[in-house]
Amino acid sequence: MAYDTPLQLSERDQAMLAGEYGPATQMAMRILVQMAGIYGARELLDISAAHIDSTIYIGEAGLEYAERLASLGAKVAVPTTLNVSGLDEAHWQEWAVSSDWAEKAHRQMVAYASMGTIPTWTCAPYQTPIKPSLGQQIAWGESNAIVYANAVLGARTERYPDLLDICCAITGRAPATGLHLEENRGGDILLQLVDIPTTLQERDIFYPVLGTFMGKLAGDRIPVIANLEARPTDDQLKAQGAAAASSGAVAMFHIVGVTPEAPTLAAAFQGKEPRHCVQVTLEMLTEVYRGLTTSQDDSLDFVAVGCPHYSLAELQELAALVQGKQRHPNVRFIVTTNRRNKDLARKAGCLAPLLAFGCQITLDTCILATPMLHRSLRSMMTTSGKFAYYSPGMLNVQVTYGTLQECVASAVAGRVVKGVDAWPT
Ligand code: F3S
Repeated sequence: MAYDTPLQLSERDQAMLAGEYGPATQMAMRILVQMAGIYGARELLDISAAHIDSTIYIGEAGLEYAERLASLGAKVAVPTTLNVSGLDEAHWQEWAVSSDWAEKAHRQMVAYASMGTIPTWTCAPYQTPIKPSLGQQIAWGESNAIVYANAVLGARTERYPDLLDICCAITGRAPATGLHLEENRGGDILLQLVDIPTTLQERDIFYPVLGTFMGKLAGDRIPVIANLEARPTDDQLKAQGAAAASSGAVAMFHIVGVTPEAPTLAAAFQGKEPRHCVQVTLEMLTEVYRGLTTSQDDSLDFVAVGCPHYSLAELQELAALVQGKQRHPNVRFIVTTNRRNKDLARKAGCLAPLLAFGCQITLDTCILATPMLHRSLRSMMTTSGKFAYYSPGMLNVQVTYGTLQECVASAVAGRVVKGVDAWPT
């Protein structure tokens, strides 16, 4: 039976719509077709991987949706990783998470795990063995993962919202639109770094600031960074993209000579002229750096690092910094990562120093995805541009943004300590 739609649907798409692949696939395809129409797509395309952000429990509707699909026998058609959940299954009772929340968040985890997915439970799926490659068509949710996939890996995904991501995974199809298409992946805005010291460009603290600047300026357009002399690490690019997708809606960027679709300036703009050029100075970035701190004093209740989820390399760096030190008893030190990276850290021998220092390793979720923080925790310090950007509004806390060295020194002192390997002001 033909389906009355402006989309050009393949025979297989039509069969899915007609229910020939089962009721869950039919439900997913119905939603996908509706959404493809809203996106203005003329057809669907095949995807070969998906990443599901709908895993985070945010209320009854999302849970009901997940359990409905699961009860209909939903199974993913492509390798599908899972984003963070709303629960640290192993440690939630150490925090302010209610048992009602825990029960529902766990049911949502069970529902998505039942669909043949890969239980990565991480917002950094690109740092797992299942990372996509250049040119691969994928459907990913989670803003930081989307921008990393497009910009750093050169894979192709639109910004998939919760609930639609799983429909793509079940059908193996996505609307042929936006960043899936070559012609939409060229740069819009040129950001030329001017006299930014290379020594600053090499440091971790630089990238969340550059990302925040980029997001504020670009919105949902594609920025192209030129004159970056340092060679950023994967973790630095991760931090940059996450910040840009927080302060703006950046889903793609290029760095000339660094990211795979920008070997040259001309390639980054697909041979066209930039529509807008901005000279980025140290003064401009310093203003953004200052804006990431909202705290007015040196009070400190907790440090939170690991947004996006800490990699093994980041866990190792932190372990080296805290070795032989002890956190102040009034300051909690939260490290968010996933179960795989914790296991890797244990095998690498860096878990013990973290625990000896008093770090609390939160797994498979984060402070913004689960209600783990007691309301009495009011002042926070972080290295993450994304945590710094969202936490004042979402958690009603005062934030100090700083280096990892400053975070450790502050956790030891029991108050905010600045000036340790700090931003050059
Ligand atoms: Fe990940 Fe939570 Fe940050 S989901 S990107 S650690 S806000």
